[in-house]
Amino acid sequence: MSIRRLPEHLVNRIAAGEVVERPASALKELIENAIDAGATRIAIVLAGGGRDRIEVADDGGGMARDEIALALERHATSKLPDDAIEDVTTLGFRGEALPSIASVARLQIESRSRGADGWSITIDNGAKAAEGPAAIPPGTRVMVDALFDRVPARRKFLRSERSEYAACLDVVKRLAMARPEIGFTLDHDGRRALTLPPGEDRPARVAALTSRELADNSLGVDFEREGVRLGGVAGLPTFNRGVADHQYLFVNGRPVKDRLLIGAVRGAYQDLLARDRHPVLALFLQVPADQVDVNVHPAKTEVRFRDPGMIRGLIVGGLRRALDEAGHRSAQRPSAAALGNWHQEGGHPRPFHEGVEGSYAGALFSPFTPSWRGPGGGSSLSVADVQRDYFPQARAEAATEPVSDAKNHPLGVARGQVAATYIVAEAEDGLVLVDQHAAHERLVLERMNRAMANGGVARQALLLPEVVELDEPACDRLEARFAELEEMGLELERFGPRAILVRATPALLGAGDAKGLVTDLADELAAFDSALSLKERLDHVAATMACHGSVRAGRILSVAEMNALLREMEVTPHSGQCNHGRPTWVKLAHGDIEKLFGRK
Ligand SMILES: Nc1ncnc2c1ncn2[C@@H]1O[C@H](COP(=O)(O)OP(=O)(O)OP(=O)(O)O)[C@@H](O)[C@H]1O
Ligand SMILES: [Mg+2]
Repeated sequence: MSIRRLPEHLVNRIAAGEVVERPASALKELIENAIDAGATRIAIVLAGGGRDRIEVADDGGGMARDEIALALERHATSKLPDDAIEDVTTLGFRGEALPSIASVARLQIESRSRGADGWSITIDNGAKAAEGPAAIPPGTRVMVDALFDRVPARRKFLRSERSEYAACLDVVKRLAMARPEIGFTLDHDGRRALTLPPGEDRPARVAALTSRELADNSLGVDFEREGVRLGGVAGLPTFNRGVADHQYLFVNGRPVKDRLLIGAVRGAYQDLLARDRHPVLALFLQVPADQVDVNVHPAKTEVRFRDPGMIRGLIVGGLRRALDEAGHRSAQRPSAAALGNWHQEGGHPRPFHEGVEGSYAGALFSPFTPSWRGPGGGSSLSVADVQRDYFPQARAEAATEPVSDAKNHPLGVARGQVAATYIVAEAEDGLVLVDQHAAHERLVLERMNRAMANGGVARQALLLPEVVELDEPACDRLEARFAELEEMGLELERFGPRAILVRATPALLGAGDAKGLVTDLADELAAFDSALSLKERLDHVAATMACHGSVRAGRILSVAEMNALLREMEVTPHSGQCNHGRPTWVKLAHGDIEKLFGRK
């Protein structure tokens, strides 16, 4: 075996393995180059999800003829004038993006610096193919055709055109959000997908790229500690989504998908959101250059902080402060010790203890005691939608039905409702708390499954079809599933490139929020895309539908409604856990209540 130096084209191809994973990563490099060149407008054209063509044109500084040739060489960059990689302020600095892309595609650069003539060089899979004058306005245009055509191993790993396009769109959105002063256009397969005018301010750009509704459902964040600044827009917990894709995080103007930051965001919203819901937000972190290393990831999407604990604390603290100031406080938590005494279904109930005096349920869970405090804390009772402020409710209706035989009614009879979210019931052997939304969601899902097994879910036509605006990949994903969704009772129709028309919804969901349902379904489809089997997909879709057809936390129920829910739970399979695997009810045995009061 002899050791040899690899030829340049092979070195580039190996580098391409890290930098250019799919069309979206090539696109990212090209847009970053345009931004670094000082562009005020960037025009992006894609064909076939970027697999067939990626074109990025900018009005930035451009390159002279000999610079173009140099730019295509490995480790050639204009961005580290003082060799000081710690102080890098540009998006690029490695000098390897262009040669890497050129080694796995046909790449043409046309460029013209001001006051000079334009020049064009074409490299075909690592070898120069053409060179000559180019008649273009000042700036640069890079075209990448037939990516990975000569690298079958890579081509094989590409996903559908739709998925590749969705990834490209995500890249454009993130970079456009980082630089609201730059104008962007995006065309895909001859259709305009995005127009963002230059000179926008940050909130306008964030709203344009996320949702126009975000403006009314978010808080401004501006917070500084020890020279680190956190700015941006944080969505209210109520404006949540089913996937975490709608979180845009930036460090020093660079879009990142950093685990530390994602974890900090989750931490900040932890007890304000159900575990399977995610906030929508755009956060911009400005960190002194010497406290962050951007050179830790080939695609530069992760960073390393000198003091990660401080950054995490800043994000959690800053977000919490903003959310708290908005009056959306989280629920008080019961103490770990008290919670430990609650039985979940499947646990072993403690024996009934004689000598309980009177009716304790009303006293312990009086509607005027919205939550209980205990010493300690730190346990996590995850609660859906408790962030809404509620007022203790008075009841005109008396809940006095006698406790029936535990064998027939193990969940007891309703005594009241706490926080407009939990049903308090008295069973023969203890006190039962039911999460009304989680429980009802489960019942709806079971009903849907039964209907599906019996030949389809009945539909209910909407009087006025509802238009739901979504981005194009989301509409495409839904459209690909129209037939299956129709079997589940949801009748949708494509309405232009970026909208879906809802014609009918599953009858058993009742008149719900069709828009929220379709938006969540689109998120669901994006999240599991081709990763799950059809069967699993249907379960997810049915679960999402069930969630929308269910009694929300926060709805005040009558005693009769509560008892009806308890009775249906008792006869429905799997009703002890919600569609996300959490318990729908918990029971505190009489003996445990006594322990809480030190009587035992
Ligand atoms: N759109 C553009 N306009 C002007 N100059 C450009 C453009 N694209 C590339 N260049 C020049 O070509 C050089 C090489 O680009 P390339 O993307 O390969 O490396 P880089 O941006 O320096 O670093 P990185 O590999 O981290 O992206 C750049 O440093 C820049 O000088
Ligand atoms: Mg670059």
